[in-house]
Amino acid sequence: MRVILLGPPGAGKGTQVERLAKHLKVSRVSSGDLFREHTQKNTELGVLAKSYMGRGALVPDDVTIKMVMNWVNAPEQAKGFVLDGFPRTLGQATALDQALAEKGGIDKVLYIMVPREDLVVRLSGRMICRSCQTPYNIRDSQPKKEGKCDKCGGQLYQREDDKPEAVRKRLEVYTNETEPLADYYRSRGLLEEVDGNRSIEDVGQALARLVAA
Ligand code: AP5
Ligand code: MG
Repeated sequence: MRVILLGPPGAGKGTQVERLAKHLKVSRVSSGDLFREHTQKNTELGVLAKSYMGRGALVPDDVTIKMVMNWVNAPEQAKGFVLDGFPRTLGQATALDQALAEKGGIDKVLYIMVPREDLVVRLSGRMICRSCQTPYNIRDSQPKKEGKCDKCGGQLYQREDDKPEAVRKRLEVYTNETEPLADYYRSRGLLEEVDGNRSIEDVGQALARLVAA
């Protein structure tokens, strides 16, 4: 099973991707997490990505496609996968289609929808783990120990691009570049819409039902 989680910044893709992948017994990847790992290690790709991410812009397609396709084409992903944050341009979607053309293609695209005003509130209260990148929220999903990740004990911090100006830019980029992908996948009969404005548990159950259907 090959699944894409689509949705605006703050929709809950990162919150849901791990449990959905576990449910499907497949691997998963978040393109933003891959870029942040490179940034932390100060690799050439990380330095380049940082210059775009910090201001809420997309990293150029050529480097993004290369990075994610390396992951998609690895033998570990043969059983399937869940993608979070990729594709988010038409160029990325067509590159993915080409890469999977002989493997059966994408099975489902789950589109998590949340009103814009709620996205802004969520992102302003988000903290993520410096080690494993698990997201928390000062309002809805606090860690058991303040400032520490429940899963790995890592330190929690606020993403640079969760500051108000970068959030505004990310939402604008999403509307212009990524939202059109909903129609792209809808026209292929792959899109399933999910109300993301419910508890984390309820959204998780809805996603699990859709991949079972
Ligand atoms: P990326 O890391 O992918 O960020 P994003 O798409 O903007 O999405 P977010 O991670 O902000 O939101 P999310 O949907 O994962 O929400 P989360 O689960 O954390 O990308 C960052 C940057 O990297 C991009 O701007 C770009 O520069 C670059 N990049 C990445 N991929 C790229 C690509 N393909 N092409 C080009 N550039 C790329 O939840 C948000 C908050 O809400 C959390 O605090 C969480 O606890 C809370 N929450 C979650 N669910 C609920 C719920 N049901 N109710 C209440 N609160 C909830
Ligand atoms: Mg995320």
